[in-house]
Amino acid sequence: MEKFRIVGGRALSGRVSISGAKNSALPCMAAALLSSETVTLHNLPYVRDIITQRRLLEDIGATVLTPELRTHKITASHIELFEAPYELVRTMRASVLALGPLLARFGKAKVSLPGGCAIGTRPIDLHLAAFTQLGAEVKLEAGNVIARAPKAGRLIGREIHFDKVTVTGTENLMMAATLAHGLTVLNNAACEPEITDLAELLNKMGARVRGAGTKRIEIEGVEALGGAEHTIIPDRIETGTFIAAAAITKGDLEIKDCQPQHLASVIDKLREVGVEIEEINPSTLHVCCPKTLTARDVTTEPYPEFPTDMQAQYMALMTQAEGSAVIEETVFENRFMHASELQRMGAHISIDGRSASVTGPTALTGAPLLASDLRASASLVLAGLVASGETMIDRVYHIDRGYEKIEAKLRAVGADIERIRESVTAPLSQAAQPEMVAEL
Ligand code: UD1
Repeated sequence: MEKFRIVGGRALSGRVSISGAKNSALPCMAAALLSSETVTLHNLPYVRDIITQRRLLEDIGATVLTPELRTHKITASHIELFEAPYELVRTMRASVLALGPLLARFGKAKVSLPGGCAIGTRPIDLHLAAFTQLGAEVKLEAGNVIARAPKAGRLIGREIHFDKVTVTGTENLMMAATLAHGLTVLNNAACEPEITDLAELLNKMGARVRGAGTKRIEIEGVEALGGAEHTIIPDRIETGTFIAAAAITKGDLEIKDCQPQHLASVIDKLREVGVEIEEINPSTLHVCCPKTLTARDVTTEPYPEFPTDMQAQYMALMTQAEGSAVIEETVFENRFMHASELQRMGAHISIDGRSASVTGPTALTGAPLLASDLRASASLVLAGLVASGETMIDRVYHIDRGYEKIEAKLRAVGADIERIRESVTAPLSQAAQPEMVAEL
């Protein structure tokens, strides 16, 4: 088990570079399954989930070459297996993104049904209902989703309405529809920048996708897709996390290689709170925090509103703000696991269903903490940076899933943080903690 040891109280200062977006890289890697030709992806973040996705692609027969650390050349010319096994899906839910491409190109796919996770039940019923509308036969067998295209082997374009905005659902269907017969329309589609990035890649591969980034996406099916080369967009959540890190430590950071327009809602909210954020150029932000922070309410909602993936980090920041902030989580039903850890550091937080009220400012004190999911871990790191004394965060494998070398990046701008590799000598009852099912 690895831990982070943080000694808080240092203002961050310097320059940090943002990595590629994990949530864009994952569907783009899955999209390579739609073609027998090579798809080259640049700017992939070097994080655990990308390694897992690569393993999935290789396990089912694709070849993945890595000429450079952040470039993958994926060729799915000889697919032998048409499934994402439980072993992979349980560590990364985004493996369900294999379903759309496999079903569309080969007419069959088997994906283990992801269970609930730390932040909610997270079903994929909307994906499955939409595949059925495209003519697929979808059944559940021994915990697996087994999907087959209609007799002719090809999905049939249809108009689909998602009852709820789903990011990976939109991506899965968008990919499936590229090879369907006729026109597919996705209504109430997710508008996240990662959707637009995926659509851009698909169009480079020869797909006909229009309207990505809006609530209505039209996909005209084509016979086959070819190879393409594509650079993944910067990670907006990593960007937001570093803005929060500068703010919470009253630091001064230049954040480069980012795309500020992808996190306008976060920037607007943090400016309201008193963080000074200046766009130096289209890919660089300057963040500092000379003033007292003022508490402001926030509600998480699908893009372009405030992202649920920034909620935990925002909560950590609100512990340092003057006044009370109400944080409403509308996307996931159980996404306040970080609150109890922050309370152990002295934060004043009360939870009522999907609403959390944080009153500050509070002088946090370092404590041993347990990370429960990816973004919750980031929130605990932020709290550790401002707490007095030592904070030890256990189960940092959660953060490694989505943040590229976060401790190295933070150390380079002045944080006192180190990764501790513990040899497991504790009795089995303590050492063999079951891994929480990973989620995002
Ligand atoms: C993606 C992101 C995750 C982010 C989330 C919301 C990736 C790999 N992950 O997750 O970081 O937090 O979007 O912005 O891109 N739902 C259903 N049925 C479905 C699908 C979803 O009820 O079939 C519900 C979910 O339980 C949740 C809500 O819809 O309450 C949104 O989920 P969704 O947008 O699908 O999240 P993910 O795509 O899994």
